[in-house]
Amino acid sequence: MLRRHLPALLLAGCGSPQAAAPMRVEGATGLNTRAAAKGLAFGSAISARQLQQPDLVAALRADCGLLVAEYEQKWRIIEPERGRRSFVGPDFIARFARESGMALRGHTLLWHESEPGWAESLDARALADAADRHVIATATHFRGRIATWDVLNEAIHLADGRPDWLRRTRLLRLLGPDYIPRAFTLARAADPAARLAYNDYGCEHATLYGRRKRLGVLALLRALKQAGVPVQVLGVQGHLSAHLAFEAAEWRDFLGEVASLGLTIEITEFDVNDRALPAATGPRDEAVAELTRRFLQATLAEPAVRSVTCWGLSDRHSWIRRGVLADHRRRDNAEARPLPYDAQMQRKPMWHAIAAAFDAAPARPPF
Ligand code: XIL
Repeated sequence: MLRRHLPALLLAGCGSPQAAAPMRVEGATGLNTRAAAKGLAFGSAISARQLQQPDLVAALRADCGLLVAEYEQKWRIIEPERGRRSFVGPDFIARFARESGMALRGHTLLWHESEPGWAESLDARALADAADRHVIATATHFRGRIATWDVLNEAIHLADGRPDWLRRTRLLRLLGPDYIPRAFTLARAADPAARLAYNDYGCEHATLYGRRKRLGVLALLRALKQAGVPVQVLGVQGHLSAHLAFEAAEWRDFLGEVASLGLTIEITEFDVNDRALPAATGPRDEAVAELTRRFLQATLAEPAVRSVTCWGLSDRHSWIRRGVLADHRRRDNAEARPLPYDAQMQRKPMWHAIAAAFDAAPARPPF
């Protein structure tokens, strides 16, 4: 259902990133500076078009040491026609990151929601070939420029009812579970330096769904590690909902289990869905900040956690405001407020909760 929302390449009319003297974002020490003091990194998802906004670029430079492309590095954007690849969009973002001294997360080589439309008609052999070529070409193109690749995104889906909890994607149906180790092995061969991650959502809350999703993700990670698959990182998307329960103890147990497999952990798409909270922005922002504080306090207590990336810095860019998913929409039509900055680029209580979490976090070796 996300498919129709994946936009065409967003470079139209984009010149170079705001090369003018960056606007100063006054005030407190930036988030990544606080994170780096504890061996962590902080970053944000970004699109090429957003790099044309001076106030956002100033905040990126003030707060981020890590970027990830919200769209531009996905398969259907890179290869809209079979065999015709363009890396103009993600290279634009990669250049801004490099010139700004920021690391780059790769997102994402394989995701059922970003397969190109032309791949839907391929038979098993052609699909396997197309997926292999995509992984190899993309990981090779970005070789040496990616800190961590999300090799595979959202492959666990409880509702599909499989004993291994794998999502019944076309890749699974046509190629079987082997498509997963194959993708990691090809990515490793194409880029020996990048950390390789499995990335997923829905593990975070103390709900029946969250507890079952955690079991499914752990089962996949254990199977991959036992098979010697080169996976080093679990990407925890961190799309929280302010109305769902969060229990620090069970969350820390899960993170400890992941770490015991020899994996590090990156929070990759952090935001807080406030749709069930009252419309008044003061109390709503405070509730979002409180959940942020609780989640990050528990998360950063795990030494294997290495970074926190928000899925955007400012409410005005949040996918939640675009209502991409049904449970993103507020009944009162009030604008969602899921990110550290408001639409006018003012820091919110959530920003200060993230800052305090980094300041209080135990130190660990540099990211
Ligand atoms: C989302 C973008 O933010 C949306 O704007 C787009 O329409 C669909 O993709 N999990 C992921 C991200 O891993 O790639 C998704 O990004 C959000 C859910």
